Amino acid sequence: MGSKVYLFPIFLFLSYTLGMKKLSEPIIASIKGYSKSGDGTARVQHRHRLQVIGAAVGDKVQVRIIRNERTHLLAKIVEILESAPTRVKPKCIHAGTCGGCRFQHISYDEQLKIKQDSIEELFPTYPVNPIIGCDNIWHYRGKMEYTFSKDQGGNQFLGLIECGSYGRVLDMKECFLAPKKFMPILNLVKAWFVKHNLEPYSSIKCEGNLKSIAFRGDLQVTLTLASRLPTEIEQELIAILKDHATSIYINLHVAKRGMRSTQELIHIYGDTHFYEELQVAGKKLKLCAMPYSFMQPNPKQSQVILEEAIKMVDPKGNETVLDLYSGVGTIGLAFASYVKKVIAIEIVKEAKENAIRNCEYNQIKNLEFIASDVKDALLDDELKKKLQDLDVMIVDPPRGGIEPKAMRELLRLKAKKILYISCNPKTQAADIKELEKEYKVGKIQPIDQFPHTIHTENLIILFRKSQQM
Ligand SMILES: C[S@@+](CC[C@H](N)C(=O)[O-])C[C@H]1O[C@@H](n2cnc3c(N)ncnc32)[C@H](O)[C@@H]1O
Repeated sequence: MGSKVYLFPIFLFLSYTLGMKKLSEPIIASIKGYSKSGDGTARVQHRHRLQVIGAAVGDKVQVRIIRNERTHLLAKIVEILESAPTRVKPKCIHAGTCGGCRFQHISYDEQLKIKQDSIEELFPTYPVNPIIGCDNIWHYRGKMEYTFSKDQGGNQFLGLIECGSYGRVLDMKECFLAPKKFMPILNLVKAWFVKHNLEPYSSIKCEGNLKSIAFRGDLQVTLTLASRLPTEIEQELIAILKDHATSIYINLHVAKRGMRSTQELIHIYGDTHFYEELQVAGKKLKLCAMPYSFMQPNPKQSQVILEEAIKMVDPKGNETVLDLYSGVGTIGLAFASYVKKVIAIEIVKEAKENAIRNCEYNQIKNLEFIASDVKDALLDDELKKKLQDLDVMIVDPPRGGIEPKAMRELLRLKAKKILYISCNPKTQAADIKELEKEYKVGKIQPIDQFPHTIHTENLIILFRKSQQM
């Protein structure tokens, strides 16, 4: 009995490693589906789950295994033997390597179908409206963040992270998601980085200075450093950037082992804010933000989201609206002229100053902004009094969804309608299960905000069960 107990795991280990040995030979795979990370999926040798980077359903491909993950084998394409009918030639030389785009090799219609299917899978008991696609599928992003890196051979990189690489940075030559003007500026920063042979920050050794550089709008630059560089080297970069940027910041992000990390934003040059102008339902909306404040990264499509949000809530003019996770107040500002009052809650302190400016730019006087964690703000008795008989709650949380404490408090408010806007429908589906205890799901409307990526924005309107739909 005892020896059987010992022999069984040895048998399992041997059969597995023998199987793996066969897998090191060329493998042919027929792609049948997509994983959550956008890879093509297949089964090999009847039992191994395979995820193939850059594959499309209908492809027959020869692949090379690059990693044995806990739930699957990760593979790269060596050769496409039969091409899927939905396969298209990617525009970018980095497609299939860059973690920014996962779907450039698939036609845009098919990308939308994949996203529609994924939402229908998450909400199987409800009808899902057809996804709204983007008119503009290239150069649509208003924000990009690039990472500094150096390999063991001393080669320096500045760009996006390679897919399936655990943080290896791509030697970026082009990008079709970012505005066209970003790439030449990125090249200037890379030349400065190489000229001085600067050190990227290593979280393993806790050494080096450079972390990342972010470009936003037209154009705010934020250089994130782990520690300051010699003044003349920083000044050289600032002189280069001044020709292109309206606003420059250094974000000093200090992380020491065993200590809480700290962040300090240092304004270096030009305007303290960057600006954006949206057209929402025929009305102009001028917005500003600072580096720590959130703003939707696809300005054109955020107009579509805001218009759809107004349609779904269908305000009559006398409502009080609670805008939770409000960023610089964008959603609340878009609603303000349709309702009696908006109360917005957001954790980032700078966003309050930005939201106050945004109210002034747009002559909005009925928006109140609270800088706080949602779960704490909703415990406040005075606020609770203001929110008695609440008409509409809009929630637009970060990717993790609504925290359990915040969920408990927001359910206590018994809002008549809730509009849930999500950038991560998976956590949204879990939250909807909680909300369904007291709410009925109305319309579900997916919107594509990020063509060629795996991300989908999803809007769901919920009605309190005791209210009429
Ligand atoms: C997806 S963004 C939405 C922003 C805004 N609704 C918009 O459309 O621009 C999520 C926002 O939630 C904020 N946030 C994250 N955790 C929070 C919390 N616990 N309490 C309040 N706000 C939070 C983030 O800073 C971010 O601005």
